[in-house]
Amino acid sequence: MTSTLPAVSEATARHEQLMETYSAHNYHPLPVVVVRAEGAWATDVDGRSYLDCLAGYSALNFGHRHPALVAAAHRQLDRLTLTSRAFGNDRIGPFCADLARLLGKDMVLPMNTGAEAVESGLKVARKWGYEVRGVPEGRARIVVMAGGFHGRTTTIVGFSTDPQARGGFGPFTPGFDVVPYGPDDPEAQALAAAMTPDTVAVLLEPVQGEAGVIVPPPGYLAAVRRICDRAGALLIADEVQSGLGRTGNLLATRAAGVEADVYLLGKALGGGIVPLSAVVADEPVLGVLRPGQHGSTFGGNPLACAVGSAVVELLSDSGPDGVLARARELGAVLSGRLAELVGHGVVAVRSAGPWAGIDVDPRRGSGHEVCAALARRGVLAKDTHGATLRMSPPLVATPAEIEFAVDALAEVLAARG
Ligand SMILES: Cc1ncc(COP(=O)(O)O)c(C=O)c1O
Repeated sequence: MTSTLPAVSEATARHEQLMETYSAHNYHPLPVVVVRAEGAWATDVDGRSYLDCLAGYSALNFGHRHPALVAAAHRQLDRLTLTSRAFGNDRIGPFCADLARLLGKDMVLPMNTGAEAVESGLKVARKWGYEVRGVPEGRARIVVMAGGFHGRTTTIVGFSTDPQARGGFGPFTPGFDVVPYGPDDPEAQALAAAMTPDTVAVLLEPVQGEAGVIVPPPGYLAAVRRICDRAGALLIADEVQSGLGRTGNLLATRAAGVEADVYLLGKALGGGIVPLSAVVADEPVLGVLRPGQHGSTFGGNPLACAVGSAVVELLSDSGPDGVLARARELGAVLSGRLAELVGHGVVAVRSAGPWAGIDVDPRRGSGHEVCAALARRGVLAKDTHGATLRMSPPLVATPAEIEFAVDALAEVLAARG
């Protein structure tokens, strides 16, 4: 990995050594040790600046240390940080109301990580299946999509089609059926065939992020919706990565003209400051949870809820100066500029707003090597699956910064041609 970068500094090497010795080896990071960041830019331990085009896998949609979010967190830190759900606090109610209104749904279940939101959504769907749909106890099935990514818990990796994610972690939770996703099943025929009388839900990402920003063909999500309606199954949209502005829309599902029964949110909901995730649905669905049946010590803590309410406020600005409008502007620049690279070291580009999966010609290097070279030019991005790169710059970046990132990629690819 480090062979493609110049020798790392003594300070970087010291941090890498600590990580190597004391931190579990479940990541393979680039040799960049960030010490502070502001907006779209991060600074490393040696004082070098990088345009952050990963943005915490979209957890930093509003950039690093967004002033309104940091102010909300500071105000709350000085007052109250944690109560547990054994008592009320004066932040959880307003936050749930803010988020429910933003999405036009009845209720919110606040959790912490994205994987917890997914787990919670699956539990709610099963319980709804038994109590509302009348599926015989223990028989509920949920259909999921090949290539999808929903987190790292045992249940979730159990239905993953990525051998690296699931290998060595079984035995797994039963009750899941995997079908091909959008581009491989444009009319959702495989999904229709997989539905059974016991199917209570279909779980999907409206754009598959970790798979390399795979955008389903037009009409696919609507076909999934129709199939769910016919079968009386819930459509659960995992918008942990695609939601809250990443595609230039509040929700990628709605942007495709489709309404899900359950939305799963995370990442950017915590403003890049605190872990905060949520299951959002109407009362007949989320109302199946009763006291003692589900919970989390930190879920709905006042610090996270204060930040979450400030995030909702940012997203509520649907005007020309709002974050969604900026995201659409950046998306047009990013996809337009990346299209120019096809045939010049890039094989294909898929994008949804300022979110792109870039298939690099493998002869120019692996995704990791290209990312290492990009870092040397001051741009942070992340590879996924071999020679595919992801770019998801903060929505507060400027068009000129997007140009800078694409120029850097063009230079890297040209140098490796
Ligand atoms: C679509 C989707 N769902 C769920 C998750 C899991 O989120 P977390 O890492 O916060 O558990 C991710 C993380 O990348 C994701 O992209």
